[in-house]
This record gives sequence, structure tokens and C-alpha cells, in this order.
Amino acid sequence: MAGAPEDVDTDDCLSSYTHVYSADLLKDQVAFITGGGSGIGFRIAEVLMRHGCDTAIASRNPEKLSEAARKLTAATGRRCLPLQMDVRQPDTISAAVDETLKQFGRVDILINNAAGNFLCPASSLSFNAFRTILEIDTMGTFNTSKVIYDKWFKDHGGSVVNISATLGYRGQALQVHAGSAKAANDAMTRHLAVEWGPSGVRVNTVAPGPISGTEGYRRLGGPTAERTESFRNIPLQRAGNKTEMAHAVLFLASRAASYVTGATLVADGGAWFTSANDVERLLGFWSSEKKKDK
Ligand code: HXC
Ligand code: NAP
Repeated sequence: MAGAPEDVDTDDCLSSYTHVYSADLLKDQVAFITGGGSGIGFRIAEVLMRHGCDTAIASRNPEKLSEAARKLTAATGRRCLPLQMDVRQPDTISAAVDETLKQFGRVDILINNAAGNFLCPASSLSFNAFRTILEIDTMGTFNTSKVIYDKWFKDHGGSVVNISATLGYRGQALQVHAGSAKAANDAMTRHLAVEWGPSGVRVNTVAPGPISGTEGYRRLGGPTAERTESFRNIPLQRAGNKTEMAHAVLFLASRAASYVTGATLVADGGAWFTSANDVERLLGFWSSEKKKDK
């Protein structure tokens, strides 16, 4: 069995990288990546750029984005445009896409990666907390997809890859907000694949499992999350890494998947089949974190 590809746990570029696809797979294409300044989105940007692509990385925090863009260009030699926007505000998305088209003249790939999450039992979740996650994850994915479709994909075709999660498959404990949001996105992938296929737009999803070196995993995994023994229940016996998620995205985004649309590629080492869904353990972790905050 092949081992994991190179990765680093921080939001830094890889010190070495071995191509598993042809290095010019995305030559002179342009990708727009929401949440591309950190975590999985940062590595997606890097790996796409290492395959000849220029990128726009878009989220709320301009300092984080500028620093990320600097690192990405230094490591790959490709252009990276940092753009401030909030996926909940269509006007800001519109301005960011206009700027991308002005700077690069095209957009070929959209990666809907921006998301928000925290552990919280449904009984303690405020109405606004539930709405906030739906607005970032679900409305944000629709808003960004629609703006890019209207401004470019409708006339030129393109490829959308949404970043989902397996949380809703078994009703993951303390995750009703994010699980519901990602389940809606999985349906959206299929609806948009059907409606936009005739315009030459493919729409697909990658659903990661537990991915090391990410904010998502730090927030959800609990205190023992990164210990090796916590992965014993996963068929592949380890956490995934960000480079592996970027490779799954690259496949779906590129011409390697030219006849694939409406698909969800679960990239989780088989975790959702076998991992614990332990309400008591997560409630214990959640209450101990709450006590620390007081
Ligand atoms: C309960 C919470 C909460 C928490 C916020 N809220 N944090 N409720 N537990 N830990 C509530 C607030 O009290 C408020 O409700 C409402 O949510 C909105 O909070 P704001 O702070 O005003 O929202 P905002 O500034 O928009 O920030 C969004 C955020 C924040 C999601 C709350 O954490 C964020 O920006 N996250 C981005 C980074 C992130 O989450 N990365 C992880 C992605 S991983 P009230 O009622 O008080 O007004 C992922 C899946 C991983 O998505 C799967 C792993 C297996
Ligand atoms: P992360 O680094 O926190 O990534 C989330 C990104 O979204 C951040 O860069 C953030 O940037 C951006 N963002 C949040 N709210 C936004 C908003 N309103 N508008 C625009 N951008 C916004 O976390 P991650 O763990 O890498 O997660 C990346 C993706 O993978 C998410 O879709 C997540 O659900 C999915 N996922 C992760 C795991 C895991 O194990 N980590 C597992 C399954 C699925 P700003 O703060 O600058 O806005």
C-alpha cells in the first residue's frame, strides 16, 4: 500500500514535493479557492499551483491571505492573488471575482473550501449559531458558485469542487449544524451538476475524514485526537494529510476527471465506516473546554 505523500502540519509550503500527476496538468489555468489562506485550502492552492495553475485565495482575514500568497508564490513560482471577501456577502464575492478576472482574464476551477465549525450539542446550540454555520458552509457555497457561474462558467465552462465532510452520514455527535450544512452541500453538488452540465460545468465533492495539521481537526478531535492509538479504529490506521486532500481535489478539478460530475469522493481512509460516534466522550470533552473558557 502506498504511504502518505509529503505534508507539514503548519500553514507552510512543502519543503519537497513528488508529483503523482503530470506537472503541467493545470498549465495556465486559474483556480479560485475560498478559505485558501489556511489548512486544507492552503495545501490545495499549493498543489494546484505546483501543477501550473495560478490561484486567487479568498476569505475574511487579509493579513493571513497576504502572507499565504507570498509563501505560495515563493514556493511554486506561480501567481497567487489574495482577496478579502465573506462568502455570506454576495457583493464581496462579486468584487473578488471581478478582480480575479481583471488580473488573470479567466477562471477555470472553483474550490468551495471555506467553512466554520465547533463542537456543540444541539441542546446548547443557539439559533444564531446554527444559522451561522449554515450561512458560511451552505449559503457560502451557493453564493460563490452562482457568482462564478454567472460571470464566467456559463459561457466558458469550468470545474467546481466542494469540500464536504462525512459528519452527516451517521449523525456525528455534537455536529448537527455542520453535518446538516454539508449534507445540503452534497445535494447541491448533484443539483448543480444536472443544471450546469450542458454549459460544460462539472460539479463534484471531496469529503475528507480526520486531517492532521488543520483547524478543523484541532476543534473537533478532542484532547487525544492526534495520538496514534486514536486511529486504530480507522481501516487505514492513520489520519489523512492535507496533501492527500489536495490530490483528491486535483483529480476531480482536472481533465483526469473529464466525464465525472455530481460525484462525492470520500477521502477518509474508511474512517466513517468504523470510527466511534461517542456522545458521552464528546460531551465530556465539550464540558471540560467550556470550564476552561470560564
Ligand atoms: C457554540 C458558538 C461557538 C461555540 C460561536 N458560537 N462559537 N456556539 N459553541 N464554540 C455561536 C456564537 O455564540 C453566536 O451565537 C454564533 O455562533 C455566531 O458566532 P460569531 O462568533 O458571531 O460568528 P463569526 O464571527 O461569523 O465566526 C464564525 C465561527 C468561527 C464559525 C463561529 O469559529 C469561525 O470563524 N470559524 C472559521 C474557522 C473554522 O471554524 N475552521 C474549522 C473548519 S472545520 P449567539 O447566539 O451567541 O449570537 C470543519 C469540519 C471539520 O468545518 C470536520 C472534522 C472531522
Ligand atoms: P480552516 O483552516 O479553518 O479553513 C477554513 C477557511 O475558511 C479559513 O481559511 C477561513 O479563513 C475561511 N472562512 C471561514 N469563514 C469564512 C467566511 N465567512 N467567508 C470566507 N472565508 C471564510 O479549516 P480546515 O480544517 O482546513 O477546513 C477546510 C475545509 O475542510 C472545510 O470545508 C472543512 O469543513 C473541511 N473538512 C475538514 C476536516 C478536517 O479534518 N480538518 C474534515 C472534514 C472536512 P478566514 O478566517 O480568513 O475567513
